[in-house]
Amino acid sequence: MVKIMSFLSKKKVGFFISMLLSLAIISACANSEAAEEEDKTTGLSPDEILNTAFKEEFPLQYESYLKNMSPEDENTSKFVEEIEPNLPILFLNYGFSLEYNLTRGHTYAIEDVIDIVRTNEDSIGSCMTCKSTAVPVLIDEMGDDYWGASFEDEIVPRTMALGEGHEVDELGASGHLAIGCSDCHDPVTMELRITRPSFTNAMERRGIDVTEASKNDMRSYVCAQCHVEYYFEPENKKVTFPWDNGLKPEDMFEYFENQGLEEGFDYDWIHSISGAPMLKAQHPEFEQWSYGPHGEAGVSCSDCHMPYERVDGAKKITSHHWGSPMDNVEQTCRTCHSDKSESELVERVENIQESHLDAMHETQEHSVRAHYYVNRMITAGAPEDRIEEAQWYIRKGQLFWDIIAAENSDGFHNPQGGMDSMRTSSDASNQAIRIAIEELTKLEIDFDELEEEMENIIQTVYKEEDPFLKHTHATNDYFPNVLELEEQ
Ligand code: HEC
Ligand code: HEC
Ligand code: HEC
Ligand code: HEC
Repeated sequence: MVKIMSFLSKKKVGFFISMLLSLAIISACANSEAAEEEDKTTGLSPDEILNTAFKEEFPLQYESYLKNMSPEDENTSKFVEEIEPNLPILFLNYGFSLEYNLTRGHTYAIEDVIDIVRTNEDSIGSCMTCKSTAVPVLIDEMGDDYWGASFEDEIVPRTMALGEGHEVDELGASGHLAIGCSDCHDPVTMELRITRPSFTNAMERRGIDVTEASKNDMRSYVCAQCHVEYYFEPENKKVTFPWDNGLKPEDMFEYFENQGLEEGFDYDWIHSISGAPMLKAQHPEFEQWSYGPHGEAGVSCSDCHMPYERVDGAKKITSHHWGSPMDNVEQTCRTCHSDKSESELVERVENIQESHLDAMHETQEHSVRAHYYVNRMITAGAPEDRIEEAQWYIRKGQLFWDIIAAENSDGFHNPQGGMDSMRTSSDASNQAIRIAIEELTKLEIDFDELEEEMENIIQTVYKEEDPFLKHTHATNDYFPNVLELEEQ
C-alpha cells in the first residue's frame, strides 16, 4: 500500500497541469463533435428500446457495442482457488453458494440472468431490473407490481414479447433487448439520461436532483443505475439503494441496522452453519469509486471504461465496448497519467489487485472460522444470548468483506477504502470467535479437535472440483446444518 500511496507524489504539480490540459483537450474535442450533432434529433420513437433500431443512424457506436459479444468470453465460476474458494461455505443456504460467476459483456445480461441456477420459480421482477432496456416499459405498464411479479411466469415472457417480431441476428436471441442504447440515451436527442427510478429516488433522499446533473456527472450516473449495492424493500420488493446515511460500507451497514430493520428488512438469508441472519452485498462499483482517488477527483466511469477511439479511418467516437481499461492503457489511463509508462501503470494496478486479493482471502477465512465456531456453540448448548451476540458479529463481518468482494475491480477503484472495510470485517469475525471461545471454554470443548475438524471440512470444499457440488461438503456430522437441527 505504501508504494501505491506514494505514486504521483513526485512531480505532482507537473502532473496536475498536464492533466488539466488533457482534460481541457478532451472536453474541447467532445464539445466540437457534440456541437455538430446538437440540433439533430433522430428519426427514432421516444419509446424505442431495441438496440438494433439504433444501428442505421449510429453505425459506428453500434459496431463498437457489438464487440461486447465475444464468444470466447464464457461464464467463469468465482469458486476456484485463485479467486474466492471460500464462497460456497460463506453463502451456504443461499443461491450464491450454488452458482456465482465473473461478469461478462452487457449484451449477455438477459441470457445470463435466465440461465443461472440462482433464478428459479421464486425469483421476482426485480431481478430483471439491471439487465434489459425493456424494464422502464414494464415499470410503466405494471407500476409497482413489476417488482414483485413472477420472474419466470410474467417478467421473462413480457420482456421477450416486447422484442417479438424481431429477427435473431448478431446480438443473439435476447441481445437486442439487453442493456443498451435506451438505458443511457434519450432515443430522440441521444442526450444521456437516467431510466431507473431506484437511482433517482436514492439520490433524491440524499438531497441530489439528478435532473440537474452536469455532463461529467452523467458519465458516471448512467452506470450508477446498475453498478451499485441494493436490496429488495420488503413491502413491494422494489429495488432500493441503502444510501440514506452515505455511500461507505459503514454507512450502508448502519442503514441496514436501522432503517432496514425498521421497515422489516431483517436479512437476505439465514446461514445454515451459524444460523446468523445475513446480508448479501451486490456490486457497489459506484459507491467504492465515489470516495476513492478517482471518484474524488471527478474522473468518471466513462473516462476509463468508455475511452475515445478512432474508427473508420479518422472518426472519433466513444467506445461502447465495456471491459477492462487495462486492455487499452494508452487511451484510458495514459490520457491523464502520460508521465507514467504503460508497464508502470499495469504494474500499479496489478500490485493493488494482488494485495487486495491476499487481504480478501485472509478476511474471508476469519469469516469461515466464525461460522464454524458459532456452529459448535449451538451444538454444544451455549447460552442463547451469547450465540445471538456472536451471530450479529458474523453478520457484520460478512457485509464488510462482501461489499468489497462483490465490487468488481479487485480493489482498484478504491484501494484504501477496500482495505479499511476488510479490516473492520476481520475485527468483527474475530469478535464472534472470541465470544465462542469464551463460551466453549466454559463447556470444556476440545479445541484441538474443533480446529482439526474445521481444517478438514474446509479442505474438502476446496478439493471438490465441480463448482456446483462444493456447497454439499460444507456441513457434516461434526458441523451439522443448524436449521435442520431446529426442525427436529
Ligand atoms: C451504459 C450507458 C450507455 C449505453 C448502453 C450506450 N451508450 Fe452511447 N454513450 C454513453 C456515454 C457515457 C457517452 C459519452 C457521452 C458524453 O460524454 O457526452 C455516449 C456517447 C454516445 C454517442 C455520442 C457520440 C460519441 O461517440 O461520443 C452516440 C451517438 C451513442 N453514444 C450511441 C449509442 C448507441 C447507438 C448505443 C446502443 C447500441 C449506445 N450509445 C449505448 C453511454 C451509453
Ligand atoms: C442497465 C444496467 C447497467 C448499466 C446502465 C450499466 N451496466 Fe455494466 N453491467 C451490468 C450487468 C448486469 C453486467 C454483467 C453482465 C453479465 O455478466 O451477464 C455488467 C457488466 C459490466 C462490465 C464487465 C464486462 C465484462 O466483460 O466482464 C463492465 C466493465 C461494465 N459493466 C461497466 C459499465 C459502465 C462503465 C457503465 C456506464 C457507462 C455501465 N456498465 C452501465 C449492468 C449495467
Ligand atoms: C481510473 C479509472 C477507472 C474509473 C474512473 C473506473 N474504473 Fe472500473 N475499473 C478500472 C480498472 C483498472 C479495473 C480493473 C480491470 C482489470 O482487472 O483488468 C476496473 C474494473 C471494473 C469492473 C469489472 C470489469 C470486469 O472485467 O469484471 C467494472 C464492472 C467497473 N470497473 C465499473 C466501473 C464503474 C461503474 C465506474 C464508475 C462508478 C468505474 N468502473 C470507474 C478502472 C476504472
Ligand atoms: C481523466 C483523468 C484520469 C484517468 C483517465 C486516470 N486517472 Fe488515475 N488519477 C487521476 C487523478 C486526478 C488522480 C488523483 C491525483 C492525486 O490525488 O494525486 C489519480 C490518481 C491515480 C493513482 C493514485 C491513487 C492514490 O491513492 O494515490 C493511481 C495509482 C492511478 N491514478 C492510476 C490510474 C490508472 C491505472 C488508470 C487507468 C485505468 C487511471 N489512473 C486513469 C486522473 C486520471
